[in-house]
Formats: sequence, structure tokens, C-alpha cells
Amino acid sequence: MRLWLASRALHRMVFESAHDGPSTSTVTWRQDTRGYPERTYPIQILSVNPTSIRFRGKGKEKEPYEEAQVDIEDGDALESLEKASIALEASHLVAFPTETVYGLGANALNAEAASRIFRAKGRPTDNPLIVHISDLSMLQRLTPDDYKPSPVYSALIDSFWPGPMTLLLPVDEAKVPSVVRCGLKTLGVRMPSHPVARALIATSGFPLAAPSANASGRPSPTAAMHVYRDMTTSRNGETGKGRLPYIIDGGSCQVGVESTVIDGVTESEELRVLRPGGVGVEDIEMALKTRHLLQDAEGISLGEVVVRVYGKDLKRDTVEEANPTTPGMKYRHYSPDADVVLLVVEGSSTSSDSATPIQEAMKTYISQRSGAANRDMKHQLQIGVMSMDDSKLTASLFSHGTNKSQSYDLHRFSLGSQQSPKQAAQRLFEGLRALDGGQDGLNKCDIIFVEALRDEAGVGLAIMNRLQKAAESVIHVRL
Ligand code: TXA
Ligand code: MG
Repeated sequence: MRLWLASRALHRMVFESAHDGPSTSTVTWRQDTRGYPERTYPIQILSVNPTSIRFRGKGKEKEPYEEAQVDIEDGDALESLEKASIALEASHLVAFPTETVYGLGANALNAEAASRIFRAKGRPTDNPLIVHISDLSMLQRLTPDDYKPSPVYSALIDSFWPGPMTLLLPVDEAKVPSVVRCGLKTLGVRMPSHPVARALIATSGFPLAAPSANASGRPSPTAAMHVYRDMTTSRNGETGKGRLPYIIDGGSCQVGVESTVIDGVTESEELRVLRPGGVGVEDIEMALKTRHLLQDAEGISLGEVVVRVYGKDLKRDTVEEANPTTPGMKYRHYSPDADVVLLVVEGSSTSSDSATPIQEAMKTYISQRSGAANRDMKHQLQIGVMSMDDSKLTASLFSHGTNKSQSYDLHRFSLGSQQSPKQAAQRLFEGLRALDGGQDGLNKCDIIFVEALRDEAGVGLAIMNRLQKAAESVIHVRL
């Protein structure tokens, strides 16, 4: 323990000299013309191996989550997490991996720290942040002293925490700065299951406010390099402006889409899924059903709820959507520079030329788009396709080799097998970024066609929700 404290003090000194003073008073922020701060950092990427992290304490058999202490076996991992904690304590930002996407973290109890998140992302200041905790005991630092989760919330916490689910909770306004919750009376809270995220929170000793670590409006980051690119590139494409001292690299995110955001406080008899995400609606219903908390056909009795999904069986409300309280509605999301086109292939056909309608639909879109843009013809049009390995769309476009007569180049990014929406979720943002940015050996694409999933079960609902937001156009092709 003494050793730990000594090393912490040493890191603090090193951090302070390397970053010319971490205290809020010594850092002056000026906005550049595009709203990003002028202050720059030499970003350091800290690799932390998740397998070296263990939790012990009270909670579920396999998962101590009520009160958890962290053990970090690997000295390098411990050192990296301590460095990051010290930066966070000094009001700086640290990006870290979660099981969903990378988060851009700040001390949630410190207004100055949290406000830096908005500047670094270029995020509108009325879009509230999710707060991350490492164990249940940390909830007390956010909610009113007498707060007790409802039976429905207790069931969800027991079933899905730690994990990709965010619950809106009543907030103690004296405990959580207004900038974090954007003046709202509810706070989105989640306990991530990624060991590195939980270890960082536990080592820091305070909850972390963290939105996805992308520049506002861009696809969420599922790898440390995505964060690095977004946090060093200004909107006009200049690089070099590092907007945080550390990015913790814990590998690629396993879930790949963000957490499911749930509002169980606005209506006592309704559990509202405001944003579909890593936990599927069917799993939520099943968890409540087994505990007799889900309303059945006979109607409601005390303590039971009905699950409603916003935009699906809960009607969209344009007044509500002008408020940022409906996640992902007010602001443009997930949008690469390229046009994203959602391709919905309907029906099935056994005839061998069933592919033709897909190619025709794409060609029509491409020629309209290049005509409308009055494109200068200096470069051959680059077309990206994100599709399932075993789908008709993939077979139709890629099984016969490249067609020399076509006036564009095709680049494919695999979304995995049609049988596994989990793979598609993991690869979704990676694919949009790779095809949009011309990374990973792919050319920078002008248009990205993305194959729609055939059904929206489980994480499929979240994938389609993100694609509908990213897409400029939707093309339906009937075979
Ligand atoms: O998986 C995730 O949730 C990731 C990782 C980093 O944890 N975080 C994330 O945060 O996706 P963000 O800020 O990119 O998206 C959170 C969404 C926003 O659309 C925000 O409007 C909504 O949740 N939100 C946060 N607090 C809210 C509140 N009190 N009421 C309604 N919506 C809220
Ligand atoms: Mg986000």
C-alpha cells in the first residue's frame, strides 16, 4: 500500500511537469474557430491488458459488484491506470475502453473536468453525459441519500450490471454538477463490464462521466486508434491537436454498439427503452418476466411494467425530440463524410439473375449522386459495401470478380455471418470508419452502401437504429 501511494505521488509529479500543470487554475482554454480548445497535449497511449485485472468483494457469485476492490497483477497495467487516475483527479480527460465503445472520461463530480468533455468532442452543451460506476456503493455519490432502486430496477441491475445497460436515475443535484446532467433531474448511470473501465474507476475512486470518445457526430470509436484520430484531427482535417493526455488501449470493444438507455422513472408503469443497445429488449423482458415484474395480457398489477421501445411501440414525439432527453434524436449521429446508403433487400428469389435488381438500384443511386454533385472526374468513384458474408447482396456483387465496365471501384467490409448480429455489431463502426477514412488498406469511399439486417432481434435493433441515423438514404430492393 505504501509503495502504491509513493508511486502515485511520483506519477503526480511526473504528470504535472510533463503537462505543465494539471490544476484547473493554470490551464486557460481558448476556443479555436471551430470550437475546439487550443490547448494541446502530446497524447500518450497506455496499453492495459484486461486479463491482469480481478475484482473481489460482495455481490453475485461470479461478479462482485455491490462493493468491489480491484487487484491488478501486472505492474505495467497498474502503473498505466495510476497515471490515468492522477490525470483524472487533476481534472483532465482520459479515454478508456468499455465493452460497448471507447469512452471519453472525466471526474463526474467535478464541473470543470466534465465541461472539458464537451469542448474536446465539440458536443452541444445540452446533451447530457452518462456516468460510470465501478460498484453499487458508488451510486450513493450520485443519487439522493434515501434513494432505493425500484423492484424493476433491482431486477435489471441484478441481471445486466456490470454490462451495456444505462439506467436513468433520480439525481442529487447537490452531488452531481449541472454540466454533467445538463440541468436535468435524472442521471444516466451504468456499470461497465470491461475490466479496464471498472479498474480505472475503482483506482480513481470517483465516478466517471463518459460519452462515446468520438468527435461529436462521428461514428463511435471501438478501438484506441479511432479515438486518437478523432482527438487529434480538427473539423477541417488538420491534425496534431491532441485534446487529452492519455488514451488507454484495451483492445477492440466486444459489443461494438453503445449501451441500452432505459427510463424507468418518468412513468411508473412503463419501462422506456430510449436507445436500443448492447442489451436486447427480449432479454430485458425475459429478466422481468421470470421475476413476475412484466405486465401480461391480464393487465397491470402493482409493481409490474410494460416495456416500450421509443420510435417503435412508443410513438416518436417531435417536441420531445427537440430536447436532448431522447437520446440520439436531436443531433446528427454516426455520420461519416461519405454518403451512407442503407440497402434493404426484401423477399427471396431462386432465379439465378436475382442479383440484378440490387446492382441496378446501386447504379441508379450512384449515377444520380455523381450527377447531382457535378463531380469532377479526376478520380474514379470509390464505393464501399458493408455486407454479410453469406448474403445475396454479397454474392451478387462480389462472386463474379470485378466488372471491368463499371465506372467505379468497389471495396467490401465484412459484417460477418447473417447468423450472427453480434459480429455485425462489433464491426459496424469500424467498417464505417475504415471505408470513410481510407484506412486499413481500403480506399477512401464516396458512398458507403450498408446491407440492412434481415431481422431486428437482440442487438439487431441497435444496429438498425444506428444505421437509420447514419444513412442519408434508404433503398428498398425487392427480389
Ligand atoms: O455504451 C455507452 O453508453 C457509451 C460508453 C462510453 O459508456 N456511452 C455513450 O454515451 O454512448 P453518449 O453520450 O455518446 O450517449 C449517451 C446518450 C446520449 O444520447 C444522451 O442524450 C443520453 O444518452 N442521455 C444521457 N443522460 C440522459 C438523461 N438524463 N436523460 C435522457 N437521455 C440521456
Ligand atoms: Mg455518442
